Amino acid sequence: MIRFFFFSTIFGDPCGNSREVIEVSPFPEGFLWGLATASYQIEGSWREDGRGNSIWDDYSHYWGKENINVNGEQRCNVDKCHTGDIACDSYKQWNRDLALLKNTNVKTYRFSLSWSRLLPYGTEDLGVNQYGVEYYNKMINDLLENDIVPFVTIYHWDLPSEVQNIIAPGGWVNSSISDIFADYAEFCFRAFGDRVKNWITLNEPGIFVDQGYHEGIMAPGMKGHMLDARFNTILAHVKAYRRYDSKYRATQKGQVGITLFSMWNEPETNQENQLAALKMELDLGWWAEPIFGSGDFAPGLKKMIADAGKNLPTFTDEQIALNKGASDFFGLNHYTTRIIRACNSCEFELEEVECDSWPTTGSVWLRPVPWGFEKLLEFIHKRWDTDKYPLYVTENGASSKDDGLQDLNDQFRVDYYKTYVSAMKRAMINGVNVKGYMAWSLMDNFEWARGYTERFGVHWVDFNGKIKILTN
Ligand code: NOJ
Repeated sequence: MIRFFFFSTIFGDPCGNSREVIEVSPFPEGFLWGLATASYQIEGSWREDGRGNSIWDDYSHYWGKENINVNGEQRCNVDKCHTGDIACDSYKQWNRDLALLKNTNVKTYRFSLSWSRLLPYGTEDLGVNQYGVEYYNKMINDLLENDIVPFVTIYHWDLPSEVQNIIAPGGWVNSSISDIFADYAEFCFRAFGDRVKNWITLNEPGIFVDQGYHEGIMAPGMKGHMLDARFNTILAHVKAYRRYDSKYRATQKGQVGITLFSMWNEPETNQENQLAALKMELDLGWWAEPIFGSGDFAPGLKKMIADAGKNLPTFTDEQIALNKGASDFFGLNHYTTRIIRACNSCEFELEEVECDSWPTTGSVWLRPVPWGFEKLLEFIHKRWDTDKYPLYVTENGASSKDDGLQDLNDQFRVDYYKTYVSAMKRAMINGVNVKGYMAWSLMDNFEWARGYTERFGVHWVDFNGKIKILTN
């Protein structure tokens, strides 16, 4: 099997999709199988019990004059003007979510804390919302009582509006954000760390920065800030990690990591090897090299940014020392693969393409390519050593387009999971130290700028009228 895979993708056409044989050997004892969600995508109750606003409330509610088209129709920031106001109603229906989790027999549940539900104005001195603290306390306690390990993300994209607009104007672009985030993380360690032993500081900083602060296609819709905002996310993660180290690790004995998003970048031909490697450097290495590698940006990345005529922020020696090793595990969100091809007129002189032969899903950016997952895992292990930094797959999954009950027949999703889990198993046989796998998602939810039009759940949700979850 491994040999067949090797031949079909290394010597063959990069578009060739080898048949994926399911590996049946057992997973290690204690392997953490789980399901994942995030606060804004499921909780709803945006004004309930003293919750403050977040940038996603503002972004999804906003339709200004410039968003009315020539026919007088409203154009919203989110498809179909959807918002997270109700979402899956999880704030009110935790017992339902818990029942679903118990029913699936998972060992872990990854969920995120809503910063503005805990600290409505962003900082502790401006007030703690006890209702929010109690909501998460109940979740954590119920999970533990049911032998489900809470895997908690501190920040999954819902920055309090007060932080974005007033306390640190510009949000992730503002250099004071790293201290503000570390204070919030410390609040979480203090409030929940007696019971939560697995923490993720930031979820996919590359995505929320590039799309929210550079391309302006997600909240808060700002443009032109890629390098500075990305830089601040590294400092924020490292400060939160070091805070845990110095004040909580000895008593709480947990682990703190970061979750990075990465596709696999496959060169179209041998000539593109270098380019595909650079793309990996830009998308994954930006965070992984400072944190899991040398403490600084890789020389190849520095050159790539300079060649593109851009200014890369620089770390001080002290920051490099603090960055290095600032994570107890490597959190990875992976969904799909791209073919990298040279392109003179493109940014960084490369373009990303998909192969027509790859199957499609409900999201244009997501094509199932399981062999890419195996290659990515092996690349990460070779480069950043998963024996030193155990790897958790904190998200993996596939979407369908919302087309009514049709979605209930999701054989394609079953196939996706089978082939991706097999690919992960092959990587493990080849030496990658994977400790857990969390499928995205427990249930269909608010898929950011796509609203409810794309469904990633292993449970189907009826969003019309009362929330009703069907399982299949
Ligand atoms: C990654 C994000 O963390 C999650 O919030 C999102 O819904 C999934 N990818 C699917 O796009």
